Amino acid sequence: MTTYSLLILPGDGIGPEVMAEVRKVVGWFQTNRGLNFDVSEDLVGGAAYDKHGTPLADETMARAQAADAVLLGAVGGQKYDDLDFSVKPERGLLRLRKEMDLFANLRPAQCFDALADFSSLKREVVAGLDILIVRELTSGIYFGQPRGISEDHTPGNEGGRVGINTQRYTSGEIRRVARSAFELARKRGNRVCSMEKANVMESGILWREEVQWVHDNEYPDVELSHMYADNGAMQLVRNPRQFDVIVTDNLFGDILSDAAAMLTGSLGMLPSASLGAPMENGRPKALYEPVHGSAPDIAGQGLANPIACILSFAMCLRYSFGLGAEADMLEKAVETVLAQGVRTADLMGPEGGTPVSTGQMGDHIVAALSAL
Ligand code: NAI
Ligand code: MG
Repeated sequence: MTTYSLLILPGDGIGPEVMAEVRKVVGWFQTNRGLNFDVSEDLVGGAAYDKHGTPLADETMARAQAADAVLLGAVGGQKYDDLDFSVKPERGLLRLRKEMDLFANLRPAQCFDALADFSSLKREVVAGLDILIVRELTSGIYFGQPRGISEDHTPGNEGGRVGINTQRYTSGEIRRVARSAFELARKRGNRVCSMEKANVMESGILWREEVQWVHDNEYPDVELSHMYADNGAMQLVRNPRQFDVIVTDNLFGDILSDAAAMLTGSLGMLPSASLGAPMENGRPKALYEPVHGSAPDIAGQGLANPIACILSFAMCLRYSFGLGAEADMLEKAVETVLAQGVRTADLMGPEGGTPVSTGQMGDHIVAALSAL
């Protein structure tokens, strides 16, 4: 029987609270579907700093490298705000991403019908929306050299300084993230739209050529289109349902994925995945986490919405464990519960009502799984 090893890193603030609900879901699949999850748990972020004096211990890093998948809650909190940069909770997360070389960041934007009125756009524009943004995560302008702020005494430069960042992409970096996007598209709507600024940036020209090369040589069956990223931003707001998978660079992806996220409503609903190269077993290195942070303002009160973390686990089922049917079930259970009107406090509309707690939301989702 296949064993799926999963390392859980609850982290700080609401991280442990939402992760407790994922545990219920994992338990349900173990008991009711006979799946063999080998779950272990460890510390990350402030919780790790408190125990080990570092936001990610070397043993934890090694366990993450060895696991089939890592599921992380959230890190950070006021208590750690004055720590030295090198041991801040966020550094634990950055170390995981860097050492696992997670170059493809997946941010789905899916509109649940019951929440369509939460969108900043009209219901007609977002109902049924289901897109996936694949953002290159390890290169581009956030990393390229040269960078920095220096003196610049060019005549006429008021202030006398210059700030520099460099957008740099190799063909290999573009090809590998393009492959991730095409692979994902094959499991969805079979369409990829690649976004760059080939009209004004050489790195954009290379991006377009390399994505096209991967398409023509390896994925001719997937429909590929190209769009300038500024037009892409307009299209996301005007008619987001035209897209299936969007692949783009680190900077444009950062902005476009946040914009797309808000088409669908609350931060408490948004999952993510970061994938790396395939391991020996053919599965990609993978880290799954909700988009939200540790929410210190509501931590410890049973107010957190666990759905973002539960949907991150659904992505884990689909992309790391190859359990697409189970992932569909879990997403269906979330949809059912929302359609029944079950709401955590962050999902309360102007019409009011009584919100459920974090734990009750988890219980409802597990009950919906049983009733499917
Ligand atoms: P945040 O995402 O933690 O919270 C923003 C707002 O959304 C808050 O009002 C919070 O109550 C609400 N919220 C977030 N998740 C929610 C959920 N599941 N259910 C209901 N409401 C939810 O971002 P913020 O406040 O900027 O940062 C708080 C801490 O989290 C900081 O220490 C920050 O560095 C850290 N952080 C960590 C991230 C991570 O672990 N990936 C990402 C973003 C922030
Ligand atoms: Mg961002």
